[in-house]
Amino acid sequence: MRETEGMTIPSRTLGDGNEIPAIGFGTYLLSGDDGRDAVVSALGCGYRLLDTALNYENEAEVGEAIRRSGIPREDIVVATKLPGRFHGFAETRAGFEESLTNLGVDYIDLFLIHWPLPRVGKFLDSWRAMIALREEGLIRSIGVSNFTREHLEFLIQESGVVPAVNQIELHPHFPQAEMRAFHAEYGIQTQSWSPLAHQRSVLADPAAVADAHGVTPAQVVLRWHVELRSIPIPKSSSPKRQRENLDVFGFELTDAEVASISSLESGRLWGGDPDTNEEF
Ligand SMILES: NC(=O)c1ccc[n+]([C@@H]2O[C@H](COP(=O)([O-])OP(=O)(O)OC[C@H]3O[C@@H](n4cnc5c(N)ncnc54)[C@H](OP(=O)(O)O)[C@@H]3O)[C@@H](O)[C@H]2O)c1
Repeated sequence: MRETEGMTIPSRTLGDGNEIPAIGFGTYLLSGDDGRDAVVSALGCGYRLLDTALNYENEAEVGEAIRRSGIPREDIVVATKLPGRFHGFAETRAGFEESLTNLGVDYIDLFLIHWPLPRVGKFLDSWRAMIALREEGLIRSIGVSNFTREHLEFLIQESGVVPAVNQIELHPHFPQAEMRAFHAEYGIQTQSWSPLAHQRSVLADPAAVADAHGVTPAQVVLRWHVELRSIPIPKSSSPKRQRENLDVFGFELTDAEVASISSLESGRLWGGDPDTNEEF
C-alpha cells in the first residue's frame, strides 16, 4: 500500500517480486507544456505509475514532470515501451537508451515491447536484449504489450523468462476473459489500456451501478478493472478527473455488478489486432 495525498493506493506484486501500484496514469496525447503540467498534476494527485512510450513522443515531458513534482524518483514507477523500428537484439538497446535519454533517468522500472509484430519476427531477439538490460540493473521489470497467448507461449518457451506484465486493450466493451485467465495461470500481471474505452459510450452504460454506489460511471468502470485484478492506466488532462479516477479504492462492486459490466462486450475499439497491427 502507498499513502499519497491522503489516498491509499494498493500495490500488485509482479511475478519477479517487484511491486507496482494497482492503478496508473496513461500519458498518450499528453505532450508539450500542457502535457507536462498534466503529468505534474497527476503526480500531485497521488499517481505513482506513469505509462509512456517512445512513440508517444512525450517521454521528455514525462521526465520533466517527474523532476518538477519534487517526488523522489524511486517512489515513481516509470513504464515505457519499445517501438517496432527497434525490434532486434542490438536495436533494442539503442531504443532503450533513447527512452532513457528522453526521460532523463538512469533506469526504467517497467520496459515493454509495444507490439509483437509477428510478421517482422524479431520480438524474441528484443526480449533477450531486455533480459540482459535487466541483469545489468538498467530495467527493474520487463514485460510486453498486445501479445496474444501464442506470442506469450513462444516467448516463454524460447527464453524461459515469463513477462512480468502484458498490457492489453481491456475495457467493458472488450473484457478479455481468456487472456486474463491465461495471464493468471502464468503469473503475468494484466494491465488495461484504454480502460475507459477512450470514453466511447462506455461511461453511459454503468450509470445505474454508479448511482447505487454514489460514484461516477468512470469510477465504476475503473473499479471493475480493480475487481478483475487488472491495472488500469486511465489518461486525463483534467486534474479533477485525474483525482476522480484515482479514487476507486473506497467501494467495491458485487460479483453481479462485475458480471453486468463484463456483459457489455462488443469488441475492440479500432483495428488493434496484435496479429496484424503494425506500428514502427
Ligand atoms: N499499449 C498500447 O498499445 C496502448 C494503446 C492505447 C493506450 N495505451 C495507454 O493507455 C492509456 C489510456 O488509454 P487512452 O488514453 O486511450 O484512453 P482512456 O484512458 O480509456 O480514456 C481517455 C479519455 O477519457 C476521458 N476521461 C478520463 N477520465 C474521465 C472521467 N473521469 N470522466 C469522463 N471522461 C474521462 C479523457 O478526457 P480528458 O483528458 O479530457 O479527461 C480522454 O478523452 C494511454 O494514455 C496510454 O498510456 C497503450
